[in-house]
Amino acid sequence: MKQVKRETLQQRAKVIWFTGLSGAGKSTLANELGKKLLDKSFLCTLLDGDSIRKGVNFDLGYNESDRKENIRRVSEISKLFIDTGVIVISAFISPTEEIRNLAKEIIGKDNFIEIFVNTPLDVCEKRDVKGLYKKARQGDLKNFTGISSPFEPPLNSEINLDTNNKNVAECVDEIWDLVWSQIALLPKDQLAV
Ligand code: ADX
Repeated sequence: MKQVKRETLQQRAKVIWFTGLSGAGKSTLANELGKKLLDKSFLCTLLDGDSIRKGVNFDLGYNESDRKENIRRVSEISKLFIDTGVIVISAFISPTEEIRNLAKEIIGKDNFIEIFVNTPLDVCEKRDVKGLYKKARQGDLKNFTGISSPFEPPLNSEINLDTNNKNVAECVDEIWDLVWSQIALLPKDQLAV
């Protein structure tokens, strides 16, 4: 059955998992990577913290156990996509080794490609696109990652993206170089352009 889905979709389903601080650029990179995969005729879907938390996980907050439950559910959903043959691009802070290991365990380590969007806290805070860092500093937002809640940099990510010295296109190229051989059945020169 798995083989049939593989042959039909001409791809190996994997989860490409982005981790990093709020404002690090996970969603931007996930979106751009998604476009690139679709351009190359790979079927993929995007799971993103902000949208998942408005729907399936609307009932969860940001204490440790809610974050764990957030990631547990997302990992189970990812697994369903994988079983269907679809590539998943996930963008979640997933702040601790324990939480990321949980995701890896549920999804299966052979199907899990971890990408650390390594944007330093001061850069994320300076950008503060959603104004959340300001609120957290003022004490209006509890358990904010990097300020009042921990973020443990991943130790075993497949890619550690230096977003300070690379633009979005360069980051996506770096990811593509790593992932294409893991998801493609065809040689690189035969993939859609
Ligand atoms: S995770 O830690 O459980 O993986 P997730 O990626 O789903 O987090 O959600 C993070 C997003 O929620 C942030 O990008 C931000 O927009 C929003 N958010 C709201 N409150 C917090 C908070 N206390 N800590 C981190 N992010 C928060």
